[in-house]
Amino acid sequence: MRTDVIVVAAGSGQRAGDGIPKQFRPLGGRAVLRRTLEAFLGRPGIRHVLPVIHPDHAPWCAEAMAGLEGVLAPVAGGATRQASVRAGLEALADDPPDLVLIHDAARPFVSARLVADAIAAAERHGAAVPALVLVDTIKAVGEPGFVGAGPDRGGLRSVQTPQSFRYELIRAAHRARAGADDLTDDAAVAEAAGHRVATFPGDPANTKLTTPEDFVTAERHVALELA
Ligand code: C5P
Repeated sequence: MRTDVIVVAAGSGQRAGDGIPKQFRPLGGRAVLRRTLEAFLGRPGIRHVLPVIHPDHAPWCAEAMAGLEGVLAPVAGGATRQASVRAGLEALADDPPDLVLIHDAARPFVSARLVADAIAAAERHGAAVPALVLVDTIKAVGEPGFVGAGPDRGGLRSVQTPQSFRYELIRAAHRARAGADDLTDDAAVAEAAGHRVATFPGDPANTKLTTPEDFVTAERHVALELA
């Protein structure tokens, strides 16, 4: 099955500090986006990897992608993550893949196992997400600053990317949802279109880099890899 990957990188990424959007910040000497693209390139079954970026970030993106083979020319994202994914899906329509993995640029630590499981789960179920059991107890906050009713942790999962789909399924689901860009992941878009979304085991190492502290931890992780 032909599988393409959409890496959404069109966010402003400012919470990590430093002025430069987090997806272009260097991590162990290589831009986060480059590490994320490399995590997919050359993996069994992967055909193309498509970055979706903010047009203002094109120079940073060109630098991050320099010399990488198998990466398609980046396309412009939209004002929300959902709009950016939609732009990526439409950009693949002329030569559509059978399956598509949709991944956040801010997660550079994608393992070969995760990619293989994402492909297998999409082939089998049509729509699937990597999920982790929760280690923390979750509380809803009612009155600001006070704990409200908490859901039962046993039935909850924390969900990551890459999320994987049959291409036609998720493109149709995104088209149906266009104009109501309020969903923060693609599983929710598939669910809104009436599809069941399967889970496969996530990876605790596949963290999303968001804050300056995340980058400190990630630098340590990368240094250990190199040691
Ligand atoms: O902000 P957050 O980390 O939740 O964004 C998740 C991913 O979606 C990031 O990789 C970000 O670059 C991307 N995104 C996007 N277009 C937007 C907003 C976010 O591609 N308009």
